[in-house]
Amino acid sequence: MPDQLGNMRRTHHCWELGAVDVDKEVVLMGWVHRRRDHGGVIFVDLRDREGITQVVFNPIVDKKIHAKAHAIRSEYVLAVRGKVENRPADMINSKLKTGEIEVSVTELKILNTAKAPPFLIEDEIDASETVRLKYRHLDLRRSEMQKNLILRHQVTIAVRKYFDRQGFLDLETPFLTRSTPEGARDYLVPSRVNPGEFYALPQSPQIFKQLFMISGFDRYYQIVRCFRDEDLRADRQPEFTQIDIEMSFVGEEDVMNLTEGMMAQLFKDVLGIKLKRPFSQLTYEEAVGRFGLDKPDTRFGFELKDISDIVAGSNFKVFANVVKKGGIVKALNAKGCIDFSRKEIDDLTDFVAVYRAKGMAWIKVKENEWQSPITKFFSDEEKDALAKRIEMEPGDLVFFVADQSKVVNESLGHLRNHLGKTLGLIDENEYQFLWVTRFPMFEYDETEKRLQALHHPFTSPLEEDYDRLKDEPLSAKSRAYDLVLNGFEIGGGSIRIHQRHIQEKVFEALNMDRETYEGKFGFLLEALDSGAPPHGGIAIGYDRLVMLMCGQSSIRDVIAFPKTQKAACLLTQAPSETSKTQLDELYLKLKPMAK
Ligand code: AMO
Ligand code: AMP
Repeated sequence: MPDQLGNMRRTHHCWELGAVDVDKEVVLMGWVHRRRDHGGVIFVDLRDREGITQVVFNPIVDKKIHAKAHAIRSEYVLAVRGKVENRPADMINSKLKTGEIEVSVTELKILNTAKAPPFLIEDEIDASETVRLKYRHLDLRRSEMQKNLILRHQVTIAVRKYFDRQGFLDLETPFLTRSTPEGARDYLVPSRVNPGEFYALPQSPQIFKQLFMISGFDRYYQIVRCFRDEDLRADRQPEFTQIDIEMSFVGEEDVMNLTEGMMAQLFKDVLGIKLKRPFSQLTYEEAVGRFGLDKPDTRFGFELKDISDIVAGSNFKVFANVVKKGGIVKALNAKGCIDFSRKEIDDLTDFVAVYRAKGMAWIKVKENEWQSPITKFFSDEEKDALAKRIEMEPGDLVFFVADQSKVVNESLGHLRNHLGKTLGLIDENEYQFLWVTRFPMFEYDETEKRLQALHHPFTSPLEEDYDRLKDEPLSAKSRAYDLVLNGFEIGGGSIRIHQRHIQEKVFEALNMDRETYEGKFGFLLEALDSGAPPHGGIAIGYDRLVMLMCGQSSIRDVIAFPKTQKAACLLTQAPSETSKTQLDELYLKLKPMAK
C-alpha cells in the first residue's frame, strides 16, 4: 500500500544537489526514472521537474529499507530521506548536473505505484506521436517537453514585462461572439436560450481590438486563444495562441518598431541572443519574385529568376505558349548539383507536382556544353541570355517551371526550401527576421469564384489605391505587413481602415451588398462613424514563435494538449458524440451521416 507523506517534508529538488551538500540530510520527492539492482545495492535515478539525483539503497545501511526498495518500479512516486555523499571517483557522471553526489537512503516512502508506462520517459523515444498524445501526461514528463513548456512560460513573462513597460493594457475580449473573418471556417456554439442561434468562437479578437481603439484605450495587447476550423498541419492548430497588439495614432513603422523591440527583448531574456535591428524588409512583390513565397527563408540563396522574356519567342513551345497565355517561366539554379541522378530529378518533379506544376525542365551545366532535354530548342542568343540571367556555371543544375504565376512561384518556392534543407544550406542556429510589406488587398478565390481579402477586410488600402477598389481591385495594395522568421509566417497585421466610407468600399469590392455588410458589421461601421482614430496593429503566432525558439519542427511540441491533424484530442477523446437530451435542449437535430 502506498504511504502517506507522514513526517516527510521535501527539502530539495532533485537537480539542485552538489558537492557543497555532502553530509547534509535531505528529503527528495519524485518519480523513479530508472532502477538498477547491482547485486545487493539498489540504485534509483529519482526525477522531478528539474532533474535527476541518484539515490542508493544499501543493505548495509538499512536492511529493511533495502528490502522495501525491491518493490520499486519505473514511474513509482517516492519520498526518500538520506545523507548526501560523494560518489566514488569511478562512479562520477559528468553528464549529470548532480553527477558528483548520491543520496544514501535512510527512510523510504512509496507514495504511489505506477503501471508500466507505454514508453520510457526519455528525450529520445521511438513511440509514435499517436501514443505520445494519448498518454500526454506521461509525454509531458519528458525533459524535452518540460523544457519546451518552461521556455513558453519564460516567453510569456518577457512579453508581459515588455508591454507593461511600454504602457500597454492587457484587456480581455469575448470567446462567445459573432463571426470574426480571418479566412477560415468558424467553430460554432449553439445558444440554448436563443433557440436556432449560434455564437462563433473568435478567429481572432480583430474587431474587438479595433473597438478598444475607438473607445480610447490607445495601446492594447493580449495573449489570447483563437479558433479556426481549417486544414491542419505542423504549424497550424484549430485553437492556437496569438500575442495580439493594437495601437492608435500610428503608421506601419511604429507597429514594426514596437514588434522588433518585443522580439529583441524576448530573444535576449529567454535565449541570450542579441538580434540585429532593424529587421530587413521586402515588398510582397519582391519576396514572391525572388523567392516564390511570401514567407521566404532568407538564410540561403538559390533565388528564382524570371526568364519569361527570354523564352517567349523560343522554339520550345511549352515555354512560349505559357508566356503567350499570360503565364510565366522561372528558373531555380541549384548550384553545384550537377551530380543529381535521373531518379533524384524525377523525385523533385513529383515534389513540385504537389503544387500543381505540370512538369519541370532541367539543364545540367557542364564545362563546354549543357546536358538537357530542352537545349536543342534554344538559339545561341537565347542560350547566352539564359546563362547570364541565371548565372549558370559549370557544375550547376537548373530547374524550370512554366505555368500561371501562382503555380510557378509556389512550386519553385517550395522546391527551393526543400533543397535548402536537404542540401544542408541552412544554418539552423541562425534567426532571420524579415518584414514583408505592401500585400495586395485581394486575391481571386478560384473555388468560390470571387475576391477575398488577403489579410482581413478591415485592412487599409494604400491611400493612392483608394480609386482602384471599384474597378481594378486586384491591383490595389494594402497597408498590411507580415513578420517572417526562418521561412515561417510568425505574425501579420496592418494599418486599419478608420473611416466608414472606405470600409464600405472594401466590403463592396468583396461583393457584399449594403444589406449584408450592415447586417454583419453594422456595429463596426457605426463605431467607425463615431470618431475612430487612425489605428493599426499586429498579431504574433505565439505557438510558432515558441516552436522556433525551442528548435522544434511542430507547434504540437510546444502546446501542452494539442490536437491531431483531424482536430482530435487523443487524450480526452474530444470531439465526442452528445446525448439526445443535450441536443434537444439546444434545439438541434442531427442529419443522418453520409456513408
Ligand atoms: P493572422 O490571421 O495573420 O492575423 O494571424 C496572426 C498569426 O497567427 C498565426 N496563426 C496560427 N498559428 C497556429 N495555428 C493556426 N491555425 C494559425 N493561424 C494563424 C500565424 C499568423 O501570422 N487579426 C489578425 C492580426 C492583425 O491584423 O492584427 C490576424 O489574426 O503566425
Ligand atoms: P516534353 O516536350 O513534354 O517531353 O517536355 C520536355 C521537358 O519539359 C520535360 O523535361 C518536361 O518535364 C518539361 N516540361 C513539361 N511541361 C513543363 C512545364 N509546364 N514547365 C516546365 N517544364 C515542363
